[in-house]
Amino acid sequence: MQTVTATAMMQKRALRWRRQGLPVALVPTMGFLHPGHLSLIERARREAGRRGLVVVSIYVNPTQFGPREDFNRYPRDLKRDLRLCRQAGADFVFAPSNAEMYAGGGSGEESSTSVVEESVTIGMEGDSRPTHFRGVATVVAKLFHLVLPTVAVFGEKDYQQAALIRRMVRDLFFPLEVLVAPTRREPDGLAMSSRNVYLSETQRREAAVLFRALERTRARVADRPVSAPKLKSQVKAFIEGTTSGRLDYAEFFDSETLRPVRMVRPGARMALAVFFGKTRLIDNGPL
Ligand code: PAJ
Repeated sequence: MQTVTATAMMQKRALRWRRQGLPVALVPTMGFLHPGHLSLIERARREAGRRGLVVVSIYVNPTQFGPREDFNRYPRDLKRDLRLCRQAGADFVFAPSNAEMYAGGGSGEESSTSVVEESVTIGMEGDSRPTHFRGVATVVAKLFHLVLPTVAVFGEKDYQQAALIRRMVRDLFFPLEVLVAPTRREPDGLAMSSRNVYLSETQRREAAVLFRALERTRARVADRPVSAPKLKSQVKAFIEGTTSGRLDYAEFFDSETLRPVRMVRPGARMALAVFFGKTRLIDNGPL
């Protein structure tokens, strides 16, 4: 396994692979890898086959964090990540610096070109984190141009992000396939996340409430449709009545368009975000 930190070197390699006609599978990450990330790398390994190359990018992208968010304290451990990438079957790790990725280092002091999607990024994470998806779309477009993948693997855990990437690839004619892999969970149902390390012992126990709220809601709508506002107040009461969590949003939406639905039936999807102290956790699932 090789590690590349320079954008010019990364793109030079990628152009060579493209000339050789090799499959290239990319897994974009912000590092501090957990089994959810590793399942994406394993999927990429299967997609690339024996001839192909698996590239994992590890980059904590400053432009997708809001000014009061956790960019500075986001957990980082490159040495451990490199070992895990190797074990999961990666051939290359692309770990650029801010200065390599952005004019002005991505600090926001120097503006530059960005990618903005304006359909599936409306609502939910797009409302709670107004500059987030602009940062995600921009950095993923950069990664696609640097790595030139034939396939890129994302996680369903970040459902709206995956929808954004699909949409960007379609609208901007990126010549690659987007795959979305299922959410890996802890035994109690908590979706694996690099941010779970922020939780205290009590909060960690309580955090399984996101998954339980998804399951309860699925059971509630199984026999008859329920209105979204009614479900939302039930979810809020359940979460805030049984844990120290504070509901940021619970939304019910069409799984293709991501538009909100008024009457919630099986087939719709639910997403929610909950604060435990300063830590914000998200989850989603089909109903
Ligand atoms: P990060 O949060 O590190 O996640 C990297 C990828 O792993 C994403 O596609 C995410 O959906 C997926 N993932 C996270 N938790 C998962 C889980 N429990 N099961 C399965 N997959 C999971 O998402 C980002 O980084 C960034 O926004 C990025 C796309 C890299 C752009 O900066």
